[in-house]
Amino acid sequence: MSDTVLDVRALRSGYGRVPVLHGVTFSIAKGENLGLIGPNGHGKTTLFRTLSGLVPAWSGSVTFLGEDITGSAPASIVERGLIHAPQGNKLFPDLTVLENLWLGAFAAGPRAERKRTIEKVFAIFPRLAERRKQYCRTLSGGERQMVTIGCCLMGLPKLLILDEPTLGLSPKLKAELRDAIAEIIGSGVQTVIVEQDPEFLQTLTTRLLLVSEGAIRAEIAEGGGLEHQRVVEMYFGHA
Ligand SMILES: Nc1ncnc2c1ncn2[C@@H]1O[C@H](COP(=O)(O)OP(=O)(O)OP(=O)(O)O)[C@@H](O)[C@H]1O
Ligand SMILES: [Mg+2]
Repeated sequence: MSDTVLDVRALRSGYGRVPVLHGVTFSIAKGENLGLIGPNGHGKTTLFRTLSGLVPAWSGSVTFLGEDITGSAPASIVERGLIHAPQGNKLFPDLTVLENLWLGAFAAGPRAERKRTIEKVFAIFPRLAERRKQYCRTLSGGERQMVTIGCCLMGLPKLLILDEPTLGLSPKLKAELRDAIAEIIGSGVQTVIVEQDPEFLQTLTTRLLLVSEGAIRAEIAEGGGLEHQRVVEMYFGHA
C-alpha cells in the first residue's frame, strides 16, 4: 500500500442545493500532521462532516488507507479509524464523563480494548479521571472539549480530526489542551487540526493549508516556515 493515509480529490458537497465545497483536493502522507486555517463560514467544518459521511459528497472522492470511503456510512468510517471531534459541544449532556467515553468505543475492536484505552485517556486528561462520574452538562467548556477528544481516542483513531478544539477557551486552558494534543500526536496518532491561530498550529503540525471559499487556496509545506505576514496575506488575499 502507498504511503498516503488520506486522499481527497475534487470533493464537492453542500446543504440542500447550496454548494459549500467547490472541489477540495489534498492528501496526507503517513506521519504527517496537518493544520487547516481559514475564514469563518468557508467550509472547514463542512469538509470534515463530508469526510466523515455526515454530509453526503456530491462528487469527487475520499480514499482512506487505500480504500474508497466516499458515500460510506458514518459509523463504518469511524470503525476504519477516521475519527472527527466536532466543533462545539456535541456530548450527551445527561450522561456522565465515563458513559460518554464508553460510547466512543462502540465498534468491536475498540470495545475489546476500552479498559486499556480509557487509562491512556485519563493519563492525558487527569481531570477527566477526577470527574468521571460527573454529568457532562455540568462540565466547563474546557472539560467538555477534553471529553470530546477522549471519546475520539476511545475509538482508536488512525487519523484524528480536531475541529477548533480550543474555541472559547482561556489562554491557560488553551496551552493545557495544546500540550495534551502534542502528547496524543507524540503517541503516534496522526492528526488534522483546524484552528484560527496559525502560531498554535505551527507548534503541532508539519503542514498548513488555507481553506477559503470551499477549496484549498494555499499551502505552507514542512520546513517552509510560517512567517506570520505570509499567513495574513494568504488569509486576507492581499499584502
Ligand atoms: N446544517 C447546515 N445547513 C445549511 N447550511 C449550513 C449548515 N452548516 C453550515 N452551513 C453553511 O455552510 C457554510 C460553511 O460553513 P462551515 O461551518 O463549514 O464553515 P467553517 O469554515 O467551519 O466556519 P467556522 O470557522 O465559523 O467554524 C456557511 O455558509 C454555513 O452557513
Ligand atoms: Mg467550523
